[in-house]
Amino acid sequence: MTWVTSLKQLLTGQPARTGGPAQTCWPGLVEHYRPWLPVGGSTPIITLLEGNTPLLRAPALEKRIGRGVRVFLKVDGLNPTGSFKDRGMTMAISKAKEAGATAVICASTGNTSAAAAAYARRGGLRAFAVIPDGYVAKGKLAQALLYGADVLAIQGNFDQALAITQDLAERYPVILVNSINPYRLQGQKTAAFEVVDALGDAPDWLCIPMGNAGNISAYWMGFQEYRKAGLSRKLPLMCGFQASGSAPLVLGSPVANPATIATAIRIGNPANWGKALEVRQESGGRFASVSDGDILAAYQVLATEEGVFCEPASAASVAGMLKHATAIPTEAQVVCVLTGNGLKDPTTALENNQANLYRDLAPEVDVVAQVMGL
Ligand code: F0G
Repeated sequence: MTWVTSLKQLLTGQPARTGGPAQTCWPGLVEHYRPWLPVGGSTPIITLLEGNTPLLRAPALEKRIGRGVRVFLKVDGLNPTGSFKDRGMTMAISKAKEAGATAVICASTGNTSAAAAAYARRGGLRAFAVIPDGYVAKGKLAQALLYGADVLAIQGNFDQALAITQDLAERYPVILVNSINPYRLQGQKTAAFEVVDALGDAPDWLCIPMGNAGNISAYWMGFQEYRKAGLSRKLPLMCGFQASGSAPLVLGSPVANPATIATAIRIGNPANWGKALEVRQESGGRFASVSDGDILAAYQVLATEEGVFCEPASAASVAGMLKHATAIPTEAQVVCVLTGNGLKDPTTALENNQANLYRDLAPEVDVVAQVMGL
């Protein structure tokens, strides 16, 4: 008898229920939101039980902003392959399999390739990923390789990789699973459903990093569908943030040589450009850029004050919120989307946070105690 069992028995006289299956298991986002998604009875659902990620209150950020503003983090780095891409990939791979495909291809700054590889392999499909050589975080490349994708690293950037994959998908029997694939956005819109399901309504602001601008378009679709169905009363103001060296949507024209520490959003010519502009206009939202310095500062605040380790691109949402904090209405609810897990990019974490690392210490308690300041 465990102590929990005995304590419960003591307090209630009833035997405690221990072990056994949980009463309701999360079935993955396609099953959970099936009526909202374009799947039929014969669609083979390829799932790793993605979705249902935490919406975490962020007290340290609230304190910085003040005025009763409530801040929540949508921690989508807790998906099976560590990013929001899993939401879209369960749909894209399920539909590719339903259509009889045997291979998929994507261009990627890393996360799409990891998700495509995992879901494709699980579904018995081949996966190809075209990536910008040298600009994909280590963890993401490791994932794609281990899941079993063929990784084609080009001496070029993401925009060139995407052009190549689009061409390949037109000429050969491989299905493109970038966010131009409409099933991707269908899956990703479920993140907005989860936010509304958790808050009971849409937030006032949604802050999100933008690369290809697929995710901001997917969130907006989700918020609009729930609003139309009467499941929320309002729509959020959509705030999309880009890194300042890679901010075509802010500048209003493509960037030939995008540059940022946030390699996930190192994109100069977003595929969903038109959709993103519609989102901004329809929601009355704003697009703005944040510097790499702003991104790193937010990345560190999230880790050291909230206990949340996201990747640099994800921290752009929080950097943007903090930069525009004075424009947030008093007592508003703000959701910042944290798109990817910090573990994917150990290099950035290590290179920018050496201050608390004490090396070359003699293996003696007095030496360690002295460094500890005891
Ligand atoms: N955050 C992360 C961690 C990403 O990996 C991406 C995109 C974005 C934000 C931007 O999302 O493109 O929908 O606006 N990563 C893609 C990839 C490009 O290949 O993994 P978006």
